[in-house]
Amino acid sequence: MSSATQEALGPLHDYVEYDHASDNFRDDVLHGLRQSPKRLPSKYFYDERGSQLFDDICELPEYYPTRTEMALLRTISADVAALVGEGATVIEFGSGSSTKIRILLDALNAPAAYVPVDISREHLLMSAKGLADSYADLRVVPVCADYTKPFDVPDIEGEKVRAGFFPGSTIGNFTRSEAVSFLHAAALDLGHNNGLLIGVDLRKDEEVLRAAYNDSAGVTAAFNLNLLHRINRELEGDFDVEAFSHDARWVPEYGRIEMHLVSARTQDVRVGEETFHFEAGESIHTEDSHKYDIEGFKALAAEAGWNSIECWTDSDALFSIHLLRVA
Ligand code: AVI
Repeated sequence: MSSATQEALGPLHDYVEYDHASDNFRDDVLHGLRQSPKRLPSKYFYDERGSQLFDDICELPEYYPTRTEMALLRTISADVAALVGEGATVIEFGSGSSTKIRILLDALNAPAAYVPVDISREHLLMSAKGLADSYADLRVVPVCADYTKPFDVPDIEGEKVRAGFFPGSTIGNFTRSEAVSFLHAAALDLGHNNGLLIGVDLRKDEEVLRAAYNDSAGVTAAFNLNLLHRINRELEGDFDVEAFSHDARWVPEYGRIEMHLVSARTQDVRVGEETFHFEAGESIHTEDSHKYDIEGFKALAAEAGWNSIECWTDSDALFSIHLLRVA
């Protein structure tokens, strides 16, 4: 471990970093733009500006998932704590700012440790440090890794049980088969008899869904278009960002919101050495956000080796939180 890393760790005693914790932005972008229809992976939304815009999305009046899940977590945290039991190591997949975990940590009975897993090293260390400062008795062991790839949960002294935490309905950004693979890998990471608390956005009135991804302040549009700014900046691209527009549509046959960037005109765009042709109206598919019903999600989890222990929803049935146990 470098001395800079050690200094960055401050109150943290352990830190684990995996080699695979680096993405290949250039290869993935070029590969996606060569496809027909064109695609870009949604994980690349989250550069510094994109992460800020996502935080802003979470505060929007139309974007109900974040506040609904937080309120639901507060309501159920004592029940969750009772079901999880004493001495849990909590492993958060894609921990980001480690905000929601505080609701759970406040309720859990003598948790053994908190293991935030995230690909963004600086963000991970900063959030982990903030958490370690707030919970002086809690062992915080950040793991810098791509949580969709296998990693070992660190050995924690005094651990009685493991509880995975995957809030925010990020599972909805996976295809169905990616979701099954992720849940299957998480069952292996966590081990037999351990649990997973997972937030899952529910199917609902189309207008509510459409509004959540087409906010009136244009923040989601800026979040989507920021991907083109990122390509221009980091990959020597020459996207005329003004010549693309945000489009978020509900696709009932797939039960998902699809986000696209639509070309306003016929144009050629260069990324590095390569040129990509766009017809007027042609789009780049940038994100899927699948919405589940409760039984549908339980069936998906069962396919991946999980039993449903409990499921909670808010009174408007907007959002669900499932507690699963490895079968
Ligand atoms: C992170 N993820 C669950 C968000 C979602 O709702 O699918 C990302 C997002 N895209 C547009 N708005 C929010």
